[in-house]
Amino acid sequence: MVLPPPLRLWVGMLVVMVVLAVELPGALQKCIFDEVQAGARVVRAAPVAPDGPPSEPRLGGRAGREHPLPSGQRTNHPGREAPGRRLGTMPPPTTSSPQPIRIKTWIPAEGNGLSEAEKEKLEAAVEEAVRMVSSLLSVNRVPGPLLLSRDVSKYCKFLWKNSSTANYNRCGRANSNYRTETCLDVTIPDDHLAGCDVFPEADSPRRTRLRPEGAGLPDTDFLLYLHVQATDKCRAEPHVLAYAVHCQTDADGRPLAGAVVLCRDRLADTAYSQQATVQTVMHELFHALGFSKELFHTWRRCSSTSQAGAGCSPRGRVTHSDGSGQMRIYSPSVIAALQRHLASAHPELGGPLENLDVPPGRPSSHWESRMLQGSIMAPALGDWTTVRVDPVTLAALQDTGWYAVDLSRAQSLVWGEGEGAMFGSLSACQNKSSSFFCTGSGSGCHYLHLHKGECQTDPHLEGCRMYKPLKNGSECWKEENGREEDWSGEAFGFHSRCFFSNLTRQKRSPSLPPSSSVGGRCYRHRCTGPNRYQIQVSGSEWVDCPAGGTTRIKEHRGLVHCPDKRLCLYADVTPPSDHVGTFPAPIARQVRL
Ligand SMILES: *[C@@H]1O[C@H](CO)[C@@H](O)[C@H](O)[C@H]1NC(C)=O
Ligand SMILES: *[C@@H]1O[C@H](CO)[C@@H](O)[C@H](O)[C@H]1NC(C)=O
Ligand SMILES: *[C@@H]1O[C@H](CO)[C@@H](O)[C@H](O)[C@H]1NC(C)=O
Ligand SMILES: [Zn+2]
Repeated sequence: MVLPPPLRLWVGMLVVMVVLAVELPGALQKCIFDEVQAGARVVRAAPVAPDGPPSEPRLGGRAGREHPLPSGQRTNHPGREAPGRRLGTMPPPTTSSPQPIRIKTWIPAEGNGLSEAEKEKLEAAVEEAVRMVSSLLSVNRVPGPLLLSRDVSKYCKFLWKNSSTANYNRCGRANSNYRTETCLDVTIPDDHLAGCDVFPEADSPRRTRLRPEGAGLPDTDFLLYLHVQATDKCRAEPHVLAYAVHCQTDADGRPLAGAVVLCRDRLADTAYSQQATVQTVMHELFHALGFSKELFHTWRRCSSTSQAGAGCSPRGRVTHSDGSGQMRIYSPSVIAALQRHLASAHPELGGPLENLDVPPGRPSSHWESRMLQGSIMAPALGDWTTVRVDPVTLAALQDTGWYAVDLSRAQSLVWGEGEGAMFGSLSACQNKSSSFFCTGSGSGCHYLHLHKGECQTDPHLEGCRMYKPLKNGSECWKEENGREEDWSGEAFGFHSRCFFSNLTRQKRSPSLPPSSSVGGRCYRHRCTGPNRYQIQVSGSEWVDCPAGGTTRIKEHRGLVHCPDKRLCLYADVTPPSDHVGTFPAPIARQVRL
């Protein structure tokens, strides 16, 4: 018998990946998810026909006794060759209400050179990220153990294609080169995988077990393969911290497994931050769970927003270019969240996607940095104290149709709030129409006013500038940032915030110039009402600081500017503290005036 040559089949495999870089102090933290996911294979479980045989993998081509698949053939539908329980062969959606998603992390045993201490830090960070995500997203849980599918295009040389034979669409011949399944570069243990059979004859029940059925993972709705490694991708891009892919989806398209690679060297970095690692893992998890350009077109519209997976149908394409060429996600919750955020009813307010290094007219897997700065799904994450799990991101996860999302847990984004539909456009940022942007390169305050900052740009801002925290010592809330000098009246500590000011003590040292320019300074503040507060300069009394106005301080020359709608308005914008859960902050919606 002449066997067809070994073929590499493409059976509904998409390929997807995302990468995040960490902010080394002052560096741009970058995510390369899109590059990585674009090279990964995704196995999708086939939908189950209501009665009996598995649905047709639709590999195309003529009906024949043996139907070798042309190399590289790619179809839109995944294949399964044998009946039996598999991923995606779950019972039809029940009406049971969604439950918090159970994410199981699996770390390959092979040596990654981590010390015990590093391993502990890492596991704690991942555990916290997983806990956060589970507290935000609910799913219709996977009944029974989670068992991943094997890729028929890898283990099988051909499928029987005669629809009047018993083994129609089943595997007719094993690929002798088949070893195992992988997720990114993680080898999936056989125990996590469904078994597979080969049916040597088209019409005979005789089968050969190629691989036994694994035990699967109990109580698991998403399987996260976590790999700590010094990969080429980590080395190639010095700011890359991590990257991720999703590798399997269920019949509704919901991702069931994914891999996150954390770059080994970053963990040993002196600038390592536990909270930044938690955020990085969350960012990557959100990609793998659905915030991905490879998945946008598979999002589902569901009849009830509180019932993920109930009465759902494909949304079709959600990303479109707006009138100005900005790619946006147009899905109902995203639009509503953005309209609320910008206080605008503009109909073109879809979720704006980052366009840096993206071909025109193509989506990316991050929010546009100028418009949704500070979001956990921005392309670069800044200092961890400035990163927010914002309402627009949670709305996007809700619009996947796979999750019921606790939108009430969103953290205030602050950036751009109430600024209208044009906020963040290139023209608007340059004509200084918004206090969120700056011009020049002077000293000032980051927009959350927790840090002093310097007016800077970065590639994602495309020429727009904003006050970014300084590399070192810019936190007003850190007591240890205080210095000896007293001519400026600066005060550092938990209740201190950044103010634009050119205050100098009148009895200043003779070496100082008679006037000083306005810059970011730290003073104590206390709230007296929404958007109402007093400030205290070191060595002086408390004085009212009228939001949007200025105030003078006794025995000082110069002025303090009092920011409007930034202080005493967002209960969840606070410095980190040891005894308060910092992330996500308690659900305290801001008071609107
Ligand atoms: C398909 O199988 C049936 C039943 O074995 C057989 O009669 C028929 O000739 C086959 N068709 C082709 C195109 O091989
Ligand atoms: C930050 O500044 C403090 C005091 O000014 C100094 O001791 C410390 O070494 C600096 N750290 C870095 C990373 O530059
Ligand atoms: C402080 O800045 C204001 C403008 O904001 C300016 O009018 C004033 O002269 C400056 N005062 C000093 C003492 O530098
Ligand atoms: Zn990313």
